[in-house]
Amino acid sequence: MSDPAPLPARAEDAQLFELLRQLAHAPEASQRATAEALGVSLGRLNAQLRAAAEAGLVTVSRRQGPDRRQRFAYALTDHGHAAKERLVRAFLSRKFAEYAALHAELTGSVTDLMPLKYRSSLMQSNLAPIPELYVSYDSAQKLKVEAAELTSLDLTPRQICDLELLMNGGFNPLKGFLSEEDYNGVVDNMRLSDGTLWPMPITLDVSEKFAESIAAGQDIALRDQEGVILATMTVTDKWEPNKAHEAEKVFGADDLAHPAVNYLHNQAGKIYLGGPVTGIQQPVHYDFRARRDTPNELRAHFRKLGWRKVVAFQTRNPLHRAHQELTFRAAKEAQANLLIHPVVGMTKPGDVDHFTRVRCYEAVLDKYPSATTSMSLLNLAMRMAGPREAVWHGIIRKNHGCTHMIVGRDHAGPGKNSAGEDFYGPYDAQDLFREHQAEIGIEMVDFKHMVYVQERAQYEPADEIADKDDVTILNISGTELRRRLAEGLEIPEWFSFPEVVAELRKTKPPRSKQGFTVFFTGLSGSGKSTIANALMVKLMEMGGRPVTLLDGDIVRKNLSSELGFSKEHRDLNIRRIGYVASEITKNGGIAICAPIAPYTATRRAVREDIEQFGAFLEIHVATSLEECERRDRKGLYKLAREGKIKEFTGISDPYEEPKNPELRVETENVDVDNCAHQVILKLESMGLIAG
Ligand code: PPS
Repeated sequence: MSDPAPLPARAEDAQLFELLRQLAHAPEASQRATAEALGVSLGRLNAQLRAAAEAGLVTVSRRQGPDRRQRFAYALTDHGHAAKERLVRAFLSRKFAEYAALHAELTGSVTDLMPLKYRSSLMQSNLAPIPELYVSYDSAQKLKVEAAELTSLDLTPRQICDLELLMNGGFNPLKGFLSEEDYNGVVDNMRLSDGTLWPMPITLDVSEKFAESIAAGQDIALRDQEGVILATMTVTDKWEPNKAHEAEKVFGADDLAHPAVNYLHNQAGKIYLGGPVTGIQQPVHYDFRARRDTPNELRAHFRKLGWRKVVAFQTRNPLHRAHQELTFRAAKEAQANLLIHPVVGMTKPGDVDHFTRVRCYEAVLDKYPSATTSMSLLNLAMRMAGPREAVWHGIIRKNHGCTHMIVGRDHAGPGKNSAGEDFYGPYDAQDLFREHQAEIGIEMVDFKHMVYVQERAQYEPADEIADKDDVTILNISGTELRRRLAEGLEIPEWFSFPEVVAELRKTKPPRSKQGFTVFFTGLSGSGKSTIANALMVKLMEMGGRPVTLLDGDIVRKNLSSELGFSKEHRDLNIRRIGYVASEITKNGGIAICAPIAPYTATRRAVREDIEQFGAFLEIHVATSLEECERRDRKGLYKLAREGKIKEFTGISDPYEEPKNPELRVETENVDVDNCAHQVILKLESMGLIAG
């Protein structure tokens, strides 16, 4: 039985507690940020710091920041740490007393709850709360107002995913975006500078222009894409990474066929910023809110349900029967409850969108025993880094309160490299996980490839089937499933659940009903526009889907009239065309684009934007420069040769020929109608128009 009367708190103790806690939490923060977090004026903070230093609780060192302002670094002494612990204990017992008093008042009884400090020490480590980077609600309100004055960075979708997991403890023990020293350790040895295992560089990449405006030691505000301030960051490090080295070490090859390597070279900014983050608010999600949980929310959920052992199933695909069998077996093997933990942040380009997947998961959830299975959505931006990614997923799942994680065949595999070979061996991820399992603090439940044995009407691990030669083994690969969906073919009951197939069919109608983009590229005067016009007319004659022509000249007049022909402006022009085409494709229409589009990387970026929604056909109109110049329909080549038009493609500016376009058309000695017909035949062979 506890004393229901609240213990009076000494105001100085409360202030000292706040100060020590803040300094321990963000020792490198600027004085202003510390004052903001504590909700006191700078003058008041200075007085408090002086008193703490005099009492031997804090040491102060001075340095001159690169912004030429004086900066101070504070560190708690041993005496300071002890004082902080003492104050924490006092705080907890006071809180407990307050709860007890409240409970007694509400129920008319006295409480027999165990004091908080005992309750948390008895808690299993995977169930106890883990540290987050958020400040209290009141401090966040103040910080938000102050942060509005800071230089701010609008985060990319991937950075928002990373920030969310940094702030909510999903990336514990990281306290912010990696410093240069931590980054080097992570890239080279999968370890932070203090030796802690961490396999994935969590970096804040920015443009050179933005980086130039920032000095190390400066605080910046991090905003979402609508401008909402999510956090502040004290920039401690700024450097230009060696991206080729990062690609080799982290992803195993500097090969653009790897989605994360492509992102690294073609999307990520050139400069990295590192430093601790102070969380203000979570990124806002309007979709499936009830299904999203922070690590601490999941831990609390498991505590409430009394789940001591939890096996996590990471996935970026819809669940079919093989997955269900695998998860059942894993839960049985680990004697654990099951957490289906799908990634809804960013997955592999071309994956089924998360809205569809979540509807599929919800449909399958009924097939699991509700008392032992939960589902929660994880806003992670995957990198498809195979073995390293598996270790990273393990740490993230541990932070979410899981004790086990399923690692299957080719975990987080990126597919084939540019030589057509797999980037990683099918069980490399399991091997690396096994090697680091004890340190990650979560146990792996490894699974081999599951296949359907027709005679026994069940799924079994392929390598455990002893009577392989006497039974019929069935399997549908991801590629085969996509083909069946695309062509509207049957998907058998032994493979998936009718509810899941129905959802997938809703989002992915057969190809002949989906939107697509035909993207002509070639030199000026090669005949792109003429063929594009002929193709448009033929498609309109067939009917069924709206057709839009985004011709180079039309776009330059209506969308890009302010742009010239520098590389930067051409890229912007093509990205705009890609954006419009992706919207058309998404909504079931046909977009025909006909710009020069001279750069491979930009064409590839547009392909990625569009392939999320439908097919992308790159068509190289391969008329030679000599022929284009001979035709010189617009008289531009003559002017370019005379130097009157600068940066003219083929004359004084590059044209990178497509290496593997879906189709290459020659226009010399072939008439326009025939060229357009070749495109129609290609579309037919791809199932995009009915034969
Ligand atoms: S790009 O590189 O894709 O952004 O070019 P695009 O938007 O297709 O615009 C090409 C048309 O602009 C005319 N033009 C030039 N082309 C290339 N280089 C230079 N410097 C240039 N200046 C003007 C030219 O008529 C192109 O039209 P097309 O239809 O290709 O002949």
